[in-house]
Amino acid sequence: MKLERRVALITGAGSGIGRGSALMFAREGARIAVADIDEASAAETARQIKEQGGEALAIGADVGNPEHAQAMVEAALRRWGAIDILYNNAATEGPICFAAQITIEQFDRVIGVNLRGTWLAMKYALPAMMEKRRGSILNVSSLAGLKATPGGAAYVASKFAVIGITQAVAIEYGKYNIRANCIIPGWIETPMVHRLFGAALPQSSVTAPPLRRIGQPQDVAKAALFLVSDDADYITGTVFTVDGGINAGDHGP
Ligand SMILES: NC(=O)c1ccc[n+]([C@@H]2O[C@H](COP(=O)([O-])OP(=O)(O)OC[C@H]3O[C@@H](n4cnc5c(N)ncnc54)[C@H](O)[C@@H]3O)[C@@H](O)[C@H]2O)c1
Repeated sequence: MKLERRVALITGAGSGIGRGSALMFAREGARIAVADIDEASAAETARQIKEQGGEALAIGADVGNPEHAQAMVEAALRRWGAIDILYNNAATEGPICFAAQITIEQFDRVIGVNLRGTWLAMKYALPAMMEKRRGSILNVSSLAGLKATPGGAAYVASKFAVIGITQAVAIEYGKYNIRANCIIPGWIETPMVHRLFGAALPQSSVTAPPLRRIGQPQDVAKAALFLVSDDADYITGTVFTVDGGINAGDHGP
């Protein structure tokens, strides 16, 4: 098992990529703090982990709220005494409109959850990692964090920034044996994608990736497992795409 007895705090683990990763990490021996703003969905993921023989703690938290973020980290530390892995996966997609149409509240919410939430969890978890001189952080960006897409300026900005803050943390904390990496999902079939595009996903979700299929949460979970595990113990500050090859360039029909 690759994560035997490790403690992993995963945000947004009530759904999609977060839930898929939580279940996979638990099968690899990790104890999982399952955090989500939707407490019932966090509880359901925790139930599924326990059903497969694992250990889990469900935590209701809005990662963008400093008190919630601190309480989330403290709950995991109280339960298990350490956070070995922090996986900042929670995000909100925000409105689909051009930049000038985004309201102040919508802009602040997207940046507040996606960027500030990622920073807050690191802010509160890093001291515990420093104490143990060990830690692995994985932050979730997006292809929209590498190249802008129209209709989601706040989301794009937040995901570019997630890469920046991950690399800043990687260079600051490397000497303390704390790694920080960024994962870039491409098209992954999750409730978020269905919210954006409806039940029938656009044909481009299959034709855009050179590998000619839409990704599944397990595709991201497998890469995440590698990045947080000791198999990646000389990898920090990296930006790791899991996109079926979309970012490699345009391809023919
Ligand atoms: N699905 C894709 O195609 C895709 C592509 C690129 C990046 N991503 C990124 O992957 C991550 C997971 O996305 P997903 O597709 O699984 O989405 P999802 O909507 O299925 O899951 C996101 C989870 O985050 C939770 N969440 C939202 N706001 C929160 C908050 N303030 N505090 C705590 N939890 C909160 C939601 O309740 C939900 O359970 C996100 O960071 C997303 O931006 C997804």
